[in-house]
Amino acid sequence: MMNIAVLASGRGTNLQAIIDAVKTGKIKAGISLVISDHKDAGALEKARLAGIKAIYINPKDFPSRESFDKQIINYLEKYNIKLIVLAGFMRLISPYFVSKYRNCIMNIHPSLLPSFKGTRGIKDARDYGVKVTGPTVHFVTEDLDAGPIILQKPVVIEHGDTIEILEGKIHKAEHEIYPEAVRLFVEGKLKIEGRAVKINE
Ligand code: GRF
Repeated sequence: MMNIAVLASGRGTNLQAIIDAVKTGKIKAGISLVISDHKDAGALEKARLAGIKAIYINPKDFPSRESFDKQIINYLEKYNIKLIVLAGFMRLISPYFVSKYRNCIMNIHPSLLPSFKGTRGIKDARDYGVKVTGPTVHFVTEDLDAGPIILQKPVVIEHGDTIEILEGKIHKAEHEIYPEAVRLFVEGKLKIEGRAVKINE
């Protein structure tokens, strides 16, 4: 069975959606590790509750991004990890890390890429006035939020949606498409052609 690692800095609701999909057998792989750069991340707690090894790595213990990433890679190698899932991991991945695991690192972003890259994807879309937004799962490359797109799900911004309502809708959509993208990867159904991802179901 394929070993997966999840990297998360926050609450870990996407992590939980993936844990649930493994439990129900939708994803036929194992989550071996959850790694966080925040000691108090809800994601670490969710991992422990699910019986998954939860590791906190303090970025302050490392002189550079690359040396921090090398510590992560030590764990990934030790556990023979084949897929790395970034789920609200709020740090840039070094080019070294990307090249070592090319096309094996996924991220979820809360807007329809390539629109509204960066850390405020939900608010920026709303402020811009677009009528449709929604999450994107993509492979991670050296360029921020710019890798090949795996899945997207449109979310309509309705008149009167507060930012909280919109966040709720987007998170719900994230919890649908992220486990699905992981499943497709695990089953070998994703083929990258140029910058497009073809799904061979
Ligand atoms: C999600 O909104 C995701 O799009 C962004 O970070 C958030 C993570 O939420 N990259 P959670 O920790 O999975 O609840």
